[in-house]
Amino acid sequence: MPEEAAWSSFFDAPAIIGRLLSPGSEPCENVVEFGCGYGTFTIPAAKLAKGIVSALDIDPGMVACVQRKALELGLDNLCVEQRDFVAQNSGLGDGTQCHAMIYNLLHLENPVALLREAARTLKPGGKISVIHWRSDIRTPRGPSLAIRPSPEQCSAWLLQAGFHVIQTVDLEDLCPYHFGLVATR
Ligand SMILES: C[S@@+](CC[C@H](N)C(=O)[O-])C[C@H]1O[C@@H](n2cnc3c(N)ncnc32)[C@H](O)[C@@H]1O
Repeated sequence: MPEEAAWSSFFDAPAIIGRLLSPGSEPCENVVEFGCGYGTFTIPAAKLAKGIVSALDIDPGMVACVQRKALELGLDNLCVEQRDFVAQNSGLGDGTQCHAMIYNLLHLENPVALLREAARTLKPGGKISVIHWRSDIRTPRGPSLAIRPSPEQCSAWLLQAGFHVIQTVDLEDLCPYHFGLVATR
């Protein structure tokens, strides 16, 4: 991850979360974020969600960073946990979540296994949103093009993991180097 200021400059995170988590409808209840990093999207999600936002990350520095922000902002619906969700799963119950967020992470080794874990935690009709770096334009950061998945690749993985109604969400005005997808469990 780049320095936090550089990272957050790539996104209008509150507007992205508004578009992905409650597009013209009721705000979400429980939300899980796989790989919360600095909390760039976690904090706006916690401000929007009606339920608990579970933010998981393997890196203790990232966990401490998001916990500190939650405390400073008085966000008592944010549960941040240091956890390797590849080795251990998410620790969340079946069908307990309304929305799962997987942002800038699907270049990991076994993306379908992670998407299946996200699906397990979602209630029927629950949504998943995916954001990733575009590979059709030059970008200032992002994983190597050799491992960077396209929207089509992510859609195929979502289908394999049991999601349906996969929609592309236009995020160009909010994060021009990224694409967004929303799918339904
Ligand atoms: C590129 S960062 C993206 C952070 C955040 N999603 C965002 O877009 O701002 C990926 C994050 O996923 C975390 N991560 C990667 N593999 C993980 C794993 N197996 N379990 C938990 N966290 C993981 C990393 O520590 C890192 O903070």
